[in-house]
Amino acid sequence: MPVTPDDFRAALSRFPSGITVVTSRGRAGEFHGITVSAFCSVSLDPPLVLVCIEKTTGSHDAVNETKTFAVNILGTGQDDLSERFSLPSMDKFDGVDLRTGFGGIPLLAAALVTLQCRLRNAYDGGDHTIFVGEDEDVSIRDGNPLVYFHGLYRDLHEA
Ligand SMILES: Cc1cc2nc3c(=O)[nH]c(=O)nc-3n(C[C@H](O)[C@H](O)[C@H](O)COP(=O)(O)O)c2cc1C
Repeated sequence: MPVTPDDFRAALSRFPSGITVVTSRGRAGEFHGITVSAFCSVSLDPPLVLVCIEKTTGSHDAVNETKTFAVNILGTGQDDLSERFSLPSMDKFDGVDLRTGFGGIPLLAAALVTLQCRLRNAYDGGDHTIFVGEDEDVSIRDGNPLVYFHGLYRDLHEA
């Protein structure tokens, strides 16, 4: 029996993940930000991470073209940032505390961790592209990560 999209979603929702917002700056200087749970570490030497981004999004083209992006790992209580950056239609950066990263990329000032990355490779991943980036700068704040599991945001105690 072929796997239906509902079965596939239901299966993967049982796998807990952290939540990141991948930020980038397009060629015309516009800001992009997208909520991404498909993030993981790849290599220690060199320091590589990957993010999977849907091909139809503005963030996808910005990362592809400018070859730079930042991964902002969210902390407990930052569900609002995750929701905000998962909605396509609003001005996502309006009222959000930002820092400026290399290439003028907007960084979320409140993120638990921010990794600034240069694109090393891009691989086809169905309706997503798998972007592998080399981490060139890292900032870390104290706190616990936001956890996403079975369709809900949780903190580590609940999870
Ligand atoms: C919890 C959560 C996790 C998500 N993870 C991803 C992901 O890993 N990759 C992705 O491309 N979209 C992911 N999305 C969907 C995007 O955030 C959403 O499609 C976003 O609106 C795309 O932004 P844009 O079209 O405005 O650029 C996720 C959404 C949520 C709520």
